[in-house]
Amino acid sequence: MIENQQLSFSEANCMACFEGTNEKQRSTGRRVCVALKYLLCLTLVTLLWTGYGRALGIGLKNSLELGVSGEVTTGDRHKTFVTQRSWAQYSPYFPVEEYKPPPSGCIVDQVNILQRHGARFPTSGASSNIISAINKLKAVQNSFSDPNMLFIRSYKYDLGQNDLVELGAKQSSDSGTEVFNRYSHLVSRRNLPFVRSDSSERVVLSALNWTEGFSIASNFVYQPPLSVMIPQDSNNTLDDHMCPAAGKPDEEDYVWLSKFALEIQRRLEVAAPGSNLNLYEVYALGTLCAFDSVAHSATSPIILSPWCSLFNQTDFENLEYAGDLDKYYGTGYGQPLGAVQGVGYTNELLARLMDQPVRDHTQTNSTLDRNEETFPLGRGIYIDFSHDNQMIAIYSAIGLFPQPVPLDTTPDQNIPDPKRTWKVGEMVVGSAFESSILEEEKRFTTKIREDFGK
Ligand SMILES: *[C@@H]1O[C@H](CO)[C@@H](O)[C@H](O)[C@H]1NC(C)=O
Ligand SMILES: *[C@@H]1O[C@H](CO)[C@@H](O)[C@H](O)[C@H]1NC(C)=O
Ligand SMILES: *[C@@H]1O[C@H](CO)[C@@H](O)[C@H](O)[C@H]1NC(C)=O
Ligand SMILES: *[C@@H]1O[C@H](CO)[C@@H](O)[C@H](O)[C@H]1NC(C)=O
Repeated sequence: MIENQQLSFSEANCMACFEGTNEKQRSTGRRVCVALKYLLCLTLVTLLWTGYGRALGIGLKNSLELGVSGEVTTGDRHKTFVTQRSWAQYSPYFPVEEYKPPPSGCIVDQVNILQRHGARFPTSGASSNIISAINKLKAVQNSFSDPNMLFIRSYKYDLGQNDLVELGAKQSSDSGTEVFNRYSHLVSRRNLPFVRSDSSERVVLSALNWTEGFSIASNFVYQPPLSVMIPQDSNNTLDDHMCPAAGKPDEEDYVWLSKFALEIQRRLEVAAPGSNLNLYEVYALGTLCAFDSVAHSATSPIILSPWCSLFNQTDFENLEYAGDLDKYYGTGYGQPLGAVQGVGYTNELLARLMDQPVRDHTQTNSTLDRNEETFPLGRGIYIDFSHDNQMIAIYSAIGLFPQPVPLDTTPDQNIPDPKRTWKVGEMVVGSAFESSILEEEKRFTTKIREDFGK
């Protein structure tokens, strides 16, 4: 039963996985089910965050500053559109729903958190399209016909590559604080949170900032170390590099891009005649709105970069869908070898929930997982720092966010289904985190497993 990794944890068939098993397994099954059901609930509703106004410096003079609540309200008073929540995998953390304690009669006796690194600069691949787009626009800067573009004449691109930005570091630290405040009853000097990370620098720094936030919140009584950094070129359950046969989402990405971005491309050509941006550069400018905003917003709330003013709500919704498709066909259900890359982590999670050694023949490193120092059982809090693509693979292995039909790369009239349940921005929010907790905007993506005991 437990060995079968095709466990599907949707509420209805969850317990079926454990039928015919002994009482201990059933009780674990129940706990897993409750935990996952709880996680699903957490991700459904969006809690609006409250921020506070804060002046920002250089490069953002022309930016649209959000209102006190951080909301940009649209004509439809029933629906609130918030720009920085539409950035899919680049959205800074926001709580999807208000935290609800477990039902009465249940106590939390173990917490497992899978968290993404904090907000970062663009990767080198993404920066090359961004930079070529900026250069093309600068080359025609004397012929701009759209006043929203005038800032480009004096704009200086100053983003780094790959690394964590200050906001990302701060929000990882806030996550550590929040976890201490909520779960300090699971911690003692002999039972510190067990922290692991993938070894890429932004992930390691996110983990270290988290442990720092946790220590500070405990008044330095509890100082959890980062115990394991799993090298990228080795067996690794916190990254998705171990499946060379897995396909890429490029084709699906392009089908959608060539639908929705044509219109934006035409508009930008009118605003900046002769700029001749290609579709990838149009998309890159959409992501620059996100990257430039988080890079220059050291703390919440996010101040939108002037690049955002080149796009309207429809554009942002379409750009968001591009991110959703990219992950769905990258390591999600749309990728035949997506979920398999989450099996190793899922087996580690089961081992912790069941208090039993890891049984896995996929991405785990048995040397690490058989060693009490590098894979202890019986801890109150576990936290693992990873990447968006890998989190999606893990969700898919577990059966979270199931989709009745594959995500459509050519939606009717170019309008993505607004009710879809596959929204990367709510699943791996740039360094998202536990989906609940924080009342203000944070930049981590996490999901939580809580182990409820009677
Ligand atoms: C937190 O992250 C920042 C920026 O990424 C880094 O410079 C700093 O060293 C990190 N803090 C710790 C305690 O590692
Ligand atoms: C497993 O982890 C050990 C200890 O870190 C390391 O020396 C070894 O190279 C790893 N093996 C694989 C296959 O990743
Ligand atoms: C955004 O601009 C496009 C034209 O490029 C237009 O069709 C669309 O209605 C606009 N959306 C909003 C919300 O204004
Ligand atoms: C590393 O992964 C491979 C492939 O799944 C597996 O065959 C091997 O036993 C693993 N190595 C360790 C040390 O766990």
